Amino acid sequence: MSIKRIPVSKLRLGMYIHRLGGNWFLHPFWRSNFLLDSPADLKVIQRCGISDVWIVVDKNEPGSRPATEIGWMLSSSDAAPDGGLSAAPTVTLAEEVEHARQLCLGAQDQILSMFDEARMGKAINARSAVPLVQQIADSVERHPQALLSVARLKTQDNCTYLHSVAVCALMLALARQLRLDYRLTQLAGLGGLMHDLGKAAIPLDILNKPGKLTDAEFKAMKRHPARGAAMLREGGADPAVQAVAMHHHEKINGKGYPDGLVADAIPLLARMGAVCDVYDAVTSVRPYKDPWNPAEAMRQMARWEGHFDRPIFEAFVKAVGIYPVGSLVRLKSQRLAVVTDVGPDTLLTPCVTAIYSAETHASVAPEPLDLADPACGDSILGPEDPDAWQLKNLDAYWLPNV
Ligand SMILES: [Fe+2]
Repeated sequence: MSIKRIPVSKLRLGMYIHRLGGNWFLHPFWRSNFLLDSPADLKVIQRCGISDVWIVVDKNEPGSRPATEIGWMLSSSDAAPDGGLSAAPTVTLAEEVEHARQLCLGAQDQILSMFDEARMGKAINARSAVPLVQQIADSVERHPQALLSVARLKTQDNCTYLHSVAVCALMLALARQLRLDYRLTQLAGLGGLMHDLGKAAIPLDILNKPGKLTDAEFKAMKRHPARGAAMLREGGADPAVQAVAMHHHEKINGKGYPDGLVADAIPLLARMGAVCDVYDAVTSVRPYKDPWNPAEAMRQMARWEGHFDRPIFEAFVKAVGIYPVGSLVRLKSQRLAVVTDVGPDTLLTPCVTAIYSAETHASVAPEPLDLADPACGDSILGPEDPDAWQLKNLDAYWLPNV
C-alpha cells in the first residue's frame, strides 16, 4: 500500500482516504480510511479547515465502504469469521490500560462539572462533550477491552463519572459491532455519556443511599430519565441523544419506565443504552455491593426474557466478549482461570491465567495460557462464580497495582 499526502484542493471523488490532516475536531469524520464517493462529503472536507489529506494511491476500490458509512465500519474482508469485533486491537491490553487510566482521570473533572451544572439547573451543551467521546472512541478502537475493564473498577467517589465513561465506551463498541454509520456512532457515544444526567436532579440522599429504596424514593429516582432528557433538550442536544436519556430504562416487553414503550417503539440508541447501562451496573466493582463476574453477567442477562432487544444483546455479547477480561472460567484441565486478554478472533479462546485447582480445591502457581495456541491443549468449559470459590482480587491478574 502506498500513501501520498495531497492538498485538499487536489482531492477528488473516487480517491481512497487514508487519513485526514489536522485536528479531528475540525472535521465530522470519526475515522479515516474510506473511499470518498459522496460529493457532500467532499464538500465537507473542503470546507472544514483541513489543509492536507493522505490518500492511498494503489488502493483497490471494490469492496471499500463509502464515506457516509465510515464511522466504525470496516470492510467485509476485516470481518471476523465468528462475527466478533472485526478489527484486531492495535496495542496490547497492558499498553491501552495505561492510556485508559489516564483518560478516566482526565474525564473526571469534565463529567463532574457537567453534573454540577445540571444540578444548578444550567442547560447542558452536549457538543462540548464530543472531544471526550472521541478520546473514548479512540481507546475502544485501539483495544476495546482496556477502557471497559478499567471503568468497571469504581469507588464511591468516582462511580458516577466512571459509569458515564463506561456506558459511553460500551455504546461505542456496540455501535461498531452493529456497523452503525459515523453519525449514529457519535450520537450513541454521546448518549451513553449523558444517559444518567437527570440523576443530577435527584436528591443526593436518595442517589447515594446504599440500601434498598423505599417506594417513594424509587418513584423520585424514576424521574431521572425525563429530567435528563429535558436538560439535554434545553441544551440543544440531538433528539437521538435525548432519547437515550429518556428511554434507557424501557424494556422491550413494555414493563420499563418512564413510558412503558414496547419493542421497536423504543428508539434504537435507547435499546442499546439499556443493555450497556445494565451490564456496567451489574459488573462494576463498588464499595457497597459485590459485582457480578463479567461472564456471569452475560449469562444472566441472556436469560432475562423481555428485557433487552435480542439482536442488540447478541451484538453486545460479540462486542464485549463471552468471557470479558476479568472473568473467572473453568478449563478442561479442571483449573480455574482468569481471563487476561481477549481479541476479536479469540472470543472463545482468550488469554487466561490459571490460578486454582477445582479438583484439589487449592491455589496453583499462576500459569499464563494462550488458549488460541494449538500447542496449549486446554480450553474453556464455562464461567464460574468467584464467590463460590472464595476467590478475590481477580482483577490483579490483568491489571497491575490493583
Ligand atoms: Fe438511568
